[in-house]
Amino acid sequence: MTIINHASIKPFNTFGIEAKAQSYCDVTSITTLKSLLKEYHDKPLFVLGGGSNMLLTKDIEALVLHINLKGIEVVSETENTVVIKAMAGENWHNFVLWCLQHNYGGVENLSLIPGNIGTAPIQNIGAYGVELKDIFVSCEAINIENQALRTFSKPDCNFGYRESIFKQDLKGQYIITSVKLELTKANHQLRTNYGVIKNELESNGIENPTIQDISDAVIAIRQSKLPDPKEIGNSGSFFKNPIITVEEFRELERNFPAVPSYKLSEEAVKVPAGWLIEKAGFKGKRFKDYGVHNKQALVLVNYGNANGKEIFELAQLIQNTVKRLFNITIETEVNII
Ligand code: EPU
Repeated sequence: MTIINHASIKPFNTFGIEAKAQSYCDVTSITTLKSLLKEYHDKPLFVLGGGSNMLLTKDIEALVLHINLKGIEVVSETENTVVIKAMAGENWHNFVLWCLQHNYGGVENLSLIPGNIGTAPIQNIGAYGVELKDIFVSCEAINIENQALRTFSKPDCNFGYRESIFKQDLKGQYIITSVKLELTKANHQLRTNYGVIKNELESNGIENPTIQDISDAVIAIRQSKLPDPKEIGNSGSFFKNPIITVEEFRELERNFPAVPSYKLSEEAVKVPAGWLIEKAGFKGKRFKDYGVHNKQALVLVNYGNANGKEIFELAQLIQNTVKRLFNITIETEVNII
């Protein structure tokens, strides 16, 4: 185990922001993780996964534990299903590709989501009608305080829209080390009713899609709308889609009849923040080396050498403008450090 002082975190955050860690360790085993947690129990620690959901606005005055635990294995199977255990440091999309190679279904709609296996449950990643919780069985996590390994079942995780217990009551208390997911080996349950997926499959003349076809469609859609972090720094959706009451929605619709929406219940409506931000005039706006993506207004981008503070100020300007124009508060999905 090597600890590097004053390490640059730029290669490890998809926004591509330059920030220094007081010290940094690439953690490749649970034994190392436990001994570091013991040794540094009274010192500040910062847990880093895929670095795809954070905006660094300052240097990290802590030991950065970069969770790089690797491994994917089948732990049990029935005739039609399989339970896979994947270690926290596996890249999410590589895991999806591995599943497709083995014809395991359930994660194809979640193709090309940035980040790692270990961070997927923290914000219950989701896209195109599927959320991690739909296939989630359990995860193992280390208690930072006493280094005990605990298994969290699905109910334990308290999943919600981009939410889990790891962002709420247990924030900063556990490090997820592995995740178990249940996938299908046959009779895959295809989820193609999401409009854009349907259109993409239709325009490719595919009537009876395989899980590979769905993954290909999702990849094509994402690549057409979302910037590749290898080319333009970003953290995917910067804001969550706000959930408002039916009464608030009626008021909004009166003023903006074209507003898209998803009805969540008799009381609640989800409104796409991307639409609000676009209507507020920010889509495609560039300021110095940062801005709002021109194809999806929910995504803030770093064109090269922006710093986190600039992007954070833009986020606040967007939040204030949306509040002023629509009387809706939009929250960040990305963690601001
Ligand atoms: N829209 C606009 N302007 C924009 C962007 C979107 O008007 O600039 C409108 C679209 O026309 C559409 C609606 O907003 O009517 C929804 O857009 P989209 O299907 O692109 O989805 P989203 O709600 O903006 C969410 C997730 C994405 C996920 C997609 C697809 C959140 C915060 N984001 O975005 O997740 O890929 O649905 O399921 O829930 C991520 O979390 O990083 C992420 C990319």
